[in-house]
Amino acid sequence: MSADLKFPKSFLWGTATSPTQVEGHVVNEWTDYVASDGGNCRVACDQYHRYEEDVNWMTRLGVNAYRMGIEWSRLQAAPFAPLNQNELARYIHLLDCLKAANITPMVVLHHFSNPPWITASGGWLNPATIPAFVDYAAKLSAALKDRVYLWNTFNEPDTYASLTYLLGGFPPFRKWHFRSYWKVIKHMAEAHAQTSRAIRQNKFSRPPEIGIAKNWTSFGAFQAFALWDHLLAEASHHAFNRFVLDEFLGGERLEASTFLGVNYYGRARLNHFCALVPTNNVSPEELKNFGIISDDMFERHPTGFGKILKKFHERYGLPIYITEHGAASNDQDFRIRDLTAHLLELHAAINHGVDVRGFFYWSLLDNFEWQFGYSKKFGLLSVDFNDEKLPRKMTRVGEFYRGICSGVSADPRIGLAK
Ligand code: NOJ
Repeated sequence: MSADLKFPKSFLWGTATSPTQVEGHVVNEWTDYVASDGGNCRVACDQYHRYEEDVNWMTRLGVNAYRMGIEWSRLQAAPFAPLNQNELARYIHLLDCLKAANITPMVVLHHFSNPPWITASGGWLNPATIPAFVDYAAKLSAALKDRVYLWNTFNEPDTYASLTYLLGGFPPFRKWHFRSYWKVIKHMAEAHAQTSRAIRQNKFSRPPEIGIAKNWTSFGAFQAFALWDHLLAEASHHAFNRFVLDEFLGGERLEASTFLGVNYYGRARLNHFCALVPTNNVSPEELKNFGIISDDMFERHPTGFGKILKKFHERYGLPIYITEHGAASNDQDFRIRDLTAHLLELHAAINHGVDVRGFFYWSLLDNFEWQFGYSKKFGLLSVDFNDEKLPRKMTRVGEFYRGICSGVSADPRIGLAK
């Protein structure tokens, strides 16, 4: 960013992770899962033991915010159980380390994982999960009210519900269970509303901010004449975007949120019912032939970022945090261009009047990318998973982001398509 691109003074420049992806030693539905590259999450980046080191790295990066999850399965051994005091103390110590480093935490309550006793009782298909989650959130927020004011209830409910019950990517690996997808979203939206009330019951030293993180993917047809692809794109948009947003933010439900978190990675264009993205096994050569620019996961579409921010601003009027954006690639120059292109869009949206309060780069570390294991490199810091000490190393994207966090310039003319 050039020095004359000014972001708001109080802007949060952060980075993000989730417990199953970085902590290691979790006991949830992912523990026994083996990813497509043969990896598992049993040790991951071992942040469970190395969080002090990671906070030091954050200081070196110059971030002033960290979006982190708290793993429900560590804190409660059964529904409505008291919080495990040892595990709570560890998270409190992490929060205190962050505070000492002047890093504001945003806590995510649900990031694609559940305690085994929730899974055993039917997970988010079972309405009894709602009061159990609300109880957890009430107890946790009471314990952390003096340390945390930014609460992110659910991370990407649409991704979670679709990969568990429509696309077979996440445990329990069901496919095309439309009714289950619908139920999970309904239950999570209700849990979000009740959790928001429960969090607000506490006397906070700073008023709490509460919201979900919505993944935004725009869907379209690759070829203008392909009516069938337009229809599928419209149906996908309706199921993954409209329906989900209406459940969480429609009508009176809007009052449950004080902000909207946006996870933005790009778009999916359909060609004869096939989404032209690497995660759908479309090879880099094929994507190149279609003229599609992607990282190792999704098609890049920076201009869609600016557009959706303006749309969210007009539709909901809520302050926005970019709870995730990042690119997975071994090509550091590509990742730097990608970040630049998205930050230029973000800056333009802010200038247009959109109230964006922070940006969290996904991710602090290379980590366990769910079905794909360790093959996707999203980190500002790389991690050597072949060395049992799991050493972290600054990447060039990390250096670049450090410049942004500290307001030092970089070339804003870099175009993504270079
Ligand atoms: C969104 C998810 O919240 C996160 O867990 C994942 O690693 C990134 N997208 C990248 O796919």
